[in-house]
Amino acid sequence: MTARIAVLASGRGSNLQAILDAIAAGTLQAEVVGVFSDKPSAPALRQVPVARRWAAKPSAFPDRAAYETALADAVAATRPDWVVCAGYMRILGDAFIARFRGRLLNIHPSLLPKYRGLHTHARAIEAGDSEHGASVHFVIPELDAGTVIAQVRVPILPGDTPETLATRLLPREHALLLAVLGLASAGQLTEQGDVTLCHGQPLLNPLSLDSADRLVS
Ligand code: GAR
Repeated sequence: MTARIAVLASGRGSNLQAILDAIAAGTLQAEVVGVFSDKPSAPALRQVPVARRWAAKPSAFPDRAAYETALADAVAATRPDWVVCAGYMRILGDAFIARFRGRLLNIHPSLLPKYRGLHTHARAIEAGDSEHGASVHFVIPELDAGTVIAQVRVPILPGDTPETLATRLLPREHALLLAVLGLASAGQLTEQGDVTLCHGQPLLNPLSLDSADRLVS
């Protein structure tokens, strides 16, 4: 089965590119059925054919609800199995989340529950943490608070800046997202109410990505 993936992105689109590369290489059995953005100039949009792009400025709509309804309608029209926020930098409203709940994933650059929200790399350095990382989680109405499916860790090194840390983390983020999408597209990941099932078993703690890019308990 080929999983249909819709991607929401606001910027550069390196996570989207990683997905597209894995599909092209045959290592992810999926299809990117649409890329959706709140930024019509987002480089991410240019990674897919025009027919698979949707972008609109929220300011072009009477209110946030109207923008999100248009976005949700456009996403739903592509009949996605999974909706992936890959650098989508707007907070999704409850109505959008309810419509796609259980198939809505986000990649966040921190070891959740640490550092929800923005400036995660700077906050980890300022806190004196010895490691940082990224999490893929189900999206629920509370920001960055849904069940964490899997995480990857990188060291914070002396002299790190937010930029050097982000650069170290990014390729590991890509591997993490691909590993989780591998699970999801194989039908091995389910959110049932408050319980997340992975390979049919309740997920009690986030999985970890090992150095060989495998998800381990
Ligand atoms: C990634 O680092 C992702 O984790 C982060 O935005 C970046 C997007 O990069 N997401 C968030 O901060 C969400 N709160 P990309 O456009 O190159 O994929």
